[in-house]
Amino acid sequence: MPFEDFVRAQLPPAPARVLEVGAGAGELTTALAVAGYDPLGIDPAAPPGDRLRRLVLEDLGADEGPFDAVVASHALHTIRDLDGGLEKVAALLRPGGVLVVEEPAWDRMDEPTLDWLHGQRRALAAAGRGEPPAGLEQLGAEWEADHLGLHGGDTLRTALARRFDERAFTWVAALHRTLGGVASEVLEQALVDAEAIQPLAFRFAGSLRQE
Ligand SMILES: C[S@@+](CC[C@H](N)C(=O)[O-])C[C@H]1O[C@@H](n2cnc3c(N)ncnc32)[C@H](O)[C@@H]1O
Repeated sequence: MPFEDFVRAQLPPAPARVLEVGAGAGELTTALAVAGYDPLGIDPAAPPGDRLRRLVLEDLGADEGPFDAVVASHALHTIRDLDGGLEKVAALLRPGGVLVVEEPAWDRMDEPTLDWLHGQRRALAAAGRGEPPAGLEQLGAEWEADHLGLHGGDTLRTALARRFDERAFTWVAALHRTLGGVASEVLEQALVDAEAIQPLAFRFAGSLRQE
């Protein structure tokens, strides 16, 4: 299921106000606007756009709220002060508002999953897409280096559970995001479902807990 469909299944009906944190190029924010929602996407690297603002979460005034929902795709794990970021999200949500995220659990990488990634990278390179990877060991070292300082899956889940009552949770494939190509995603998810490789991301939806 595309993340947009997971989000749509968790959101209150349109035209709810939705904040997307770390909106990137704004695809999800734009799709939500097209679907009749009232979204605002923030990202320090946002392109120009009616619904987008070039801003970090930390600098968004609490008076910009309340939002009915906050969504984030592979963004919260990059926020250095995760608890502070989630506190800001909570302050921006209306009581009972919903947070919907997909975040990496990059620290679940294991040997079979790294081996699969290595094979996929080699196959794509043979098809003229990208450079072939170095050895398995080096790929593992690169994986660790690429994620240095980023929050892992357990840290994120613990922080989310402190403020939000879980409504939905599912493990999903994530390597296809960097490998590219629909075929890789289908294959990766099938291997995840068969427990042959690790899911390296999760989807979570939770309601703001009333304090
Ligand atoms: C891995 S990208 C994901 C982009 C997009 N959501 C996606 O799924 O393709 C993470 C994004 O989070 C943004 N970001 C990082 N720290 C942020 C912060 N403190 N507030 C808002 N956005 C942030 C980055 O600029 C980047 O565009």
